[in-house]
Amino acid sequence: MSPRKRAGGKPEAARDRLEELRTQIEHHDHLYYVLDRPQISDAEYDRLYRELKQLEERFPDLVTPGSPTQRIAGAPRPGFIEVEHTAPMLSLDSSDAEEAVRRFDTRIRAACGDGQVDYVVEPKLDGLSVELVYEDGQLVGSATRGDGRVGEDITANVRTIGSAPLRLRTEKRPVPSRLSLRGETVMLLADFERLNARLTQENKPVFANPRNAAAGSLRQLDPSMTAQRPLVLFAYELMTADGVELAKQTDVLEALADWGFKVSAETRAGVDIEEAIEVHHDLERRRDELDFEIDGVVIKLNDLATRERLGSTAHHPRWAFAYKFEPRREVSEIVDIVVQVGRTGKLTPVAMLLPVDVGGVTVSRASLHNREEIERLDVRKGDKVRIQRAGDVIPQVLERIPEPGKKRGLAFEMPASCPSCHADIVSVGPLDFCTNGLACPAQLKGRIQHFASRDALDIRGLGERTVEQLLDSGLVNSVADLLRLRAEDVMRLEGFAELSAANLLEAIEGSKEVSLDRFLYALGIPEVGTQTARDLAGHFGSLDALTAARRDELEAVDGIGPKVAEAIHDFLSSPATKSTVNDLIGSGLTLIESTPARDQTLAGLTFVFTGSLQSLTRSEAQELVRSLGGRISSSVSSKTDYLVAGGDPGSKYDRAVELGVKTLSEEEFLSMVPKGVV
Ligand code: IVH
Repeated sequence: MSPRKRAGGKPEAARDRLEELRTQIEHHDHLYYVLDRPQISDAEYDRLYRELKQLEERFPDLVTPGSPTQRIAGAPRPGFIEVEHTAPMLSLDSSDAEEAVRRFDTRIRAACGDGQVDYVVEPKLDGLSVELVYEDGQLVGSATRGDGRVGEDITANVRTIGSAPLRLRTEKRPVPSRLSLRGETVMLLADFERLNARLTQENKPVFANPRNAAAGSLRQLDPSMTAQRPLVLFAYELMTADGVELAKQTDVLEALADWGFKVSAETRAGVDIEEAIEVHHDLERRRDELDFEIDGVVIKLNDLATRERLGSTAHHPRWAFAYKFEPRREVSEIVDIVVQVGRTGKLTPVAMLLPVDVGGVTVSRASLHNREEIERLDVRKGDKVRIQRAGDVIPQVLERIPEPGKKRGLAFEMPASCPSCHADIVSVGPLDFCTNGLACPAQLKGRIQHFASRDALDIRGLGERTVEQLLDSGLVNSVADLLRLRAEDVMRLEGFAELSAANLLEAIEGSKEVSLDRFLYALGIPEVGTQTARDLAGHFGSLDALTAARRDELEAVDGIGPKVAEAIHDFLSSPATKSTVNDLIGSGLTLIESTPARDQTLAGLTFVFTGSLQSLTRSEAQELVRSLGGRISSSVSSKTDYLVAGGDPGSKYDRAVELGVKTLSEEEFLSMVPKGVV
């Protein structure tokens, strides 16, 4: 007799009962977490859950990853793993100005031939954007948006969210073999208040607003911590759904609800731009009555085929617009104006304010940008001012509030010398700069922080305080010094011990091999952000080729205009840059240089891949297309030039045939690639 049988019950009978219990529990989870309509008491639910748990303990072989008991699975992890999104997770074009919304509508109507346009208006949920991937109805992956291209794998944490189905519901409609979607993780206001009350009791720091609370909870390394945080997932966009034919965003929302997701009840469909604007005003008025924070509405074109035709820019889809609410405003007082020196040497006056709560965030300082801005605002120490959080994050001083009869403080004056190193100041238009370059501790500090930041060398654990300590102790006098640090020196800094010093050194060591694009970003070239750095790296392939490039050659890179080309050229040809780069390479930094665009054979052509390839992986094939100047799209549209169909192609193949898009076998595709490239 097998030990199982001795435990009582036959595996076959157990299998049936297990499935029954799981389906029942999923049903009640759905009623409770998604529909807010529980039908059984907590005690009844607990009974079902206990029975499932006990049965699974007796038949451990029958435990499935999709079982409700497996929501919290896995031990705490040392860090998050980065994952590349199936398709870029774009952000939305946005504004809080009605004219901008009308301009969006004009563009849409021009593109749609001026007929009646049909919009869907959804609340713009203020949480953390996430991608969820399902295969054969099972949740297999989830990631944060990250930089839009690469996010962090948070699957284990998302699994703990009650409103994120582990298995898709199948009663109402079939489930595609592969489904990926986008949604927002939020914390309800009441849960947020309760969480902060608990944290206060436990003497722990509280969260400034529900969005930070949601983000902080999702980014816990220990999934059992996330499980204790009451998070809610709202689904709002389908990214891929193999074999599913949907015509409208309203169908998408319905399908998402059928598969078991929570979709916002505040969605309005079938409206024109006037009505959409009305919905925005209405929601703004009712903003404080909702259970969750929203920061505007998203106006989306309902028709999916037109959406595909409109496509997107590098940053956002052309078919949607986020019409944001007016930023929140409050009144405070300027207690002082201090001057900070940034990594480029720019002097920035900052208003130190009496702390004030602006829509849930405590604001105690706001940048005043430059001399001219202070003159324009006419603000002085002691003045009352109106503060707003623009984009709901960065605080800014809007205006001075006149106080008739009150004696005002002295007008602000820029210091005559750098407040950090006392070197001379040079003025360029309204801006003031310290002339001391990297000999100025404040500039060096900014440079080092930027160099170590997430999109640059990503040296974990090198926070602002540590950088200050390294500079104050004299251990670091240049960016390259950072790479030459020794554990025994770091250990002598206050707050460091053997282990923490070793960790920092390990992080530094691990960052010494760096891709060219990150390195370019890390250098802090004026006008070069992460995207431009990637474009430059992709185009030139090596630092030598980039440094040798003339201005007109720089301008040949997509998106680089004369001004940026000049800034890059000046920066890279300066002796200071050359010596910094040499010093870095001499200190062990290794550049991973990509192969430059060898050949633009596929320029202007858009490819879609489907099915499994034999001789290279999907991402290798896509990379190949990009490196030859071609474009990749995740879905077939009339703008697709070629569909490359591997084994077992899905619905994309049918769609390509339907649209008359040329299809290629893997061999045919490879024959388009110049010899010697693969
Ligand atoms: S659609 C490709 N719908 O707003 C477009 N976004 O900057 C995908 N958001 O990152 C976004 N509510 O996190 C969409 N109903 C909604 C949304 C929404 C909130 C967030 C999302 C996105 C940001 C836009």
